Amino acid sequence: MGAYAPLDHILTNNSLILPPADLPLDNILPDEPLLLMGAGPVPVSQKVASANSVVINHLGETMNKVIERVRLMAQYVFQTRSQHILGVAGPGSAAMEMAITNLVWPGRKVLCINNGFFSARLAEMATRVGGEVTLHTLPEGQGADAAQVEKLLVEGDFDVITLVQGETSNTVWNDQLAQITQLARQHGVLSIVDAVCTLSTMPLNMDEWQVDVVITGGQKGLASIPGVSLIAFSEHVWPEIVNRIAPMPHWCLDARLALQFWEEKGYHYTAPVSGILALHEALRQVCLETLDRRFERHLVCSQALQAAIEAMGLQLFVAPQSRLNSVVGICLPSGVDGKKVLSTMSNLYKVEISGSFGLPIVRIGQMGEQSRAHNLYRTLHAFGMSLKSNGAQIDLPAGMSSLERELDVKEALTA
Ligand SMILES: Cc1ncc(COP(=O)(O)O)c(C=O)c1O
Repeated sequence: MGAYAPLDHILTNNSLILPPADLPLDNILPDEPLLLMGAGPVPVSQKVASANSVVINHLGETMNKVIERVRLMAQYVFQTRSQHILGVAGPGSAAMEMAITNLVWPGRKVLCINNGFFSARLAEMATRVGGEVTLHTLPEGQGADAAQVEKLLVEGDFDVITLVQGETSNTVWNDQLAQITQLARQHGVLSIVDAVCTLSTMPLNMDEWQVDVVITGGQKGLASIPGVSLIAFSEHVWPEIVNRIAPMPHWCLDARLALQFWEEKGYHYTAPVSGILALHEALRQVCLETLDRRFERHLVCSQALQAAIEAMGLQLFVAPQSRLNSVVGICLPSGVDGKKVLSTMSNLYKVEISGSFGLPIVRIGQMGEQSRAHNLYRTLHAFGMSLKSNGAQIDLPAGMSSLERELDVKEALTA
């Protein structure tokens, strides 16, 4: 016998592992794709989808041009003139870890604003690399108050502060983000902002707000694919990264090494070329739409959805001041099983929305292509019908007509 066992031998010898029975992907995927209206991933445009199916060399002229364009367009989307924008081959969490791991090391004092699941993840990451973490935990449903945070900044002698712009898990918005990051700069504290679900759905002016690191994933506000993320370091923080003396425990996430690919066009690791091409297309669509118009579209759609939900007789989870528009949290009527509502929506109406992390709510996303009138009508109808068939007393026609009223006014924007 040669180096490889012949197939008949593989099939008859019990000591070898046999190939599993064939199951084509077509038999796994639903016949009709679900409309993704949950907390992400979100639907991608045809341009993004076809870019994601292309593989090119990760080094060389063509890729250099793509990288240059991604960084240029990202400067617009992050609203920064900083040159230090890097891609990350990994989920939003990898970008979070890159931010933390490059700025936190044993003995560094970190103030973590904790509004929920994802902001707590930043705190856990900081603890894991040896940071001395102080948690500022807000009551459920509340954004951070800038005056309260300033008090902590004055008392605490912190090196770094972390916070999310939008806490996708419970749909809380830190509406005082800009004040907080500017206070942090005044007090000599570096700020890390998680904009995974919010970037390009609402304003985030990195330079003007003096944010030091902004991170985002692909699969939410940017409407690209999951697994390739972006991180922007300010010019202000960059010298700290470059001159760091503390040992760097990560190799892939070392910003100084990532620089070799993203700024110097050399080799760090083999970049996820298809995902970067998809990101290129997603960023291009944001640039073509323009941020102002995109923010307005998201706002109009999200508010129309919120008004329609209330017109149906349901309650929104978070009070208006701290309510996130990018993901809308809806309280379930008592006695209604959320899991059953979600499965009716998926099975019967082919629309998928999200449950939650232990809260009695469901969440409807308003990121990227989710914020389109036709997707809203279909989703609200599917949601209302599924609630009714699972025992809820709601007024679906009132919700639908409220949605129509709100969206009609801005038809050209939301189509
Ligand atoms: C606000 C926020 N931060 C971080 C993440 C983590 O992103 P990923 O799941 O891509 O690691 C998410 C994902 O839902 C998020 O919504």
